[in-house]
Amino acid sequence: MRIDVFTLVPQAFGWMTERRPLAAVLGGELELRLYSYRDATPLRAGQVDDEPYGGGAGMVLRVDVVAAALEAAYGGRPEHRVVALVPAGRPLDQPLVEELAAEPHLAILSARFEGFDERIVEHLATDAISIGPYVLSGGELPAMVLLDAIARRLPGALAAGSGEHESFSAELEGGLEYPHYTRPAEFRGWRVPDVLLSGDHARVEAWRREQSRARTAR
Ligand SMILES: C[S@@+](CC[C@H](N)C(=O)[O-])C[C@H]1O[C@@H](n2cnc3c(N)ncnc32)[C@H](O)[C@@H]1O
Repeated sequence: MRIDVFTLVPQAFGWMTERRPLAAVLGGELELRLYSYRDATPLRAGQVDDEPYGGGAGMVLRVDVVAAALEAAYGGRPEHRVVALVPAGRPLDQPLVEELAAEPHLAILSARFEGFDERIVEHLATDAISIGPYVLSGGELPAMVLLDAIARRLPGALAAGSGEHESFSAELEGGLEYPHYTRPAEFRGWRVPDVLLSGDHARVEAWRREQSRARTAR
């Protein structure tokens, strides 16, 4: 899979590429390219934004700038999905992550300031996605959220078996994961549930299913 991120802060993504899950799949299952809008802007002095028509605070990312960035990257209209990250977009959830992780090629557009000129979302993007009902200062963190969530679904991203019984997985019927415990078995009087120390795998499995269902139903 190839993911292209369009951003004003490409350097923000550096640390991610050195850590799992990205580090494990880069150069193999995942090719990641970072594009700065400023590198392709047709405006002078690296300008990418402008004042909003109708007045108001803040600056708006220009449609001609984003079009130029896409043109420079693809030489024409991209055939793959182009995701604009916006608070008003489709809420990101695990089914959407699985859907995007199955794409061969994806572009992610992030904005800063007041956000995108709406024509970017309407005409240059194929999807508008929100990572939650709150506002962040820029699309870099949402892009990283999306990148991480997609990368961990790619083969080889995680240690064997560790991605199978996770929250929202089919193995847990789309529900939440059961609680985990590790040594010590007792700390300040807080004991690990006896069933987990029993060595009875069938009982452990049944307990975990029950815990998962109870958490999901809450
Ligand atoms: C300060 S925000 C703009 C907020 C916009 N004026 C609004 O009220 O909806 C700047 C950029 O950060 C990104 N962003 C902020 N919150 C986001 C969220 N919850 N989901 C996805 N992207 C978000 C988007 O790319 C957005 O255009």
